[in-house]
Amino acid sequence: MFIARTVAELRQHVAPHAKPAFVPTMGNLHEGHLSLLRHAKPMGDVLVSSIFVNRLQFLPHEDFDSYPRTFEDDCARLQAVGCDVLFAPTEAELYPQPQTFKVLPDPALANILEGEFRPGFFTGVCTVVMKLFSCVFAGGAGVAVFGQKDYQQQLILREMVRQFALPIQILTLPTTRAADGLALSSRNMYLSAPERAQAVQLSAALQALAAQVRAAGAMQGKATAASGAAAFNVAAAEAAAMQDLRAQGWQPDYLTVRRQSDLSPITHVTAEPLVVLGAAKLGPTRLIDNVEV
Ligand code: PAF
Repeated sequence: MFIARTVAELRQHVAPHAKPAFVPTMGNLHEGHLSLLRHAKPMGDVLVSSIFVNRLQFLPHEDFDSYPRTFEDDCARLQAVGCDVLFAPTEAELYPQPQTFKVLPDPALANILEGEFRPGFFTGVCTVVMKLFSCVFAGGAGVAVFGQKDYQQQLILREMVRQFALPIQILTLPTTRAADGLALSSRNMYLSAPERAQAVQLSAALQALAAQVRAAGAMQGKATAASGAAAFNVAAAEAAAMQDLRAQGWQPDYLTVRRQSDLSPITHVTAEPLVVLGAAKLGPTRLIDNVEV
């Protein structure tokens, strides 16, 4: 595996290849990242990954400084899954001057959910991903692979690629989970042992809410006006799910049922594809997860 520290080195190593497959990361690689890399491998003629902890997507009070940096271990893992080129630039290389030109995602997508609780987050993500794409896909086409755990992120990046007509195929792969169901995340390492044992409660709450939505959809299919079946109250179910999490010691930011297409809220269950998304803090650690319905 070649480790490119500069944009020039990266381009030199990727240029001979017609179709790079790219998995961008912030490092501290776990099985979730590795599964993205394994899927990406046969999709292109060179497997490229990046490790860059992107300051632009952290708020001042967030964990930019303490974000786990495990470069040697990451390199060993990348090598083991057949990564050909790792792009690991310094901040001075990727942002040689303050990044005053930014990619501003549609507020309707980017200022809700994660964007409401982390203002500017998706501007930071889109800006760095656009820049990484322009470094990796200098020759044009390719494929980039993201995880479904960051549901809103992958949706916004898809829209970015579509609206800027980038010749890049975006692939989203299912969330990798620990044996108990906890979604793998670099931030799981902040959890104490008792918190780790409890952490699965977030995905359990999302699964339970998704099950209610599915049941409501099935009931609705059968119900007739004469049956008098009460309509499923989405807002009440969301509020109850948040209250249950609070009772277990969490501080939820949101647990909500949304349309998969644009993450807009629903007032009642319909046949269109839905997703239940949640973000909550357990102690100082903020976790996110989602379940498609
Ligand atoms: O999902 C991540 O790890 C980051 O948001 C990304 C896409 C690498 C951009 O910094």
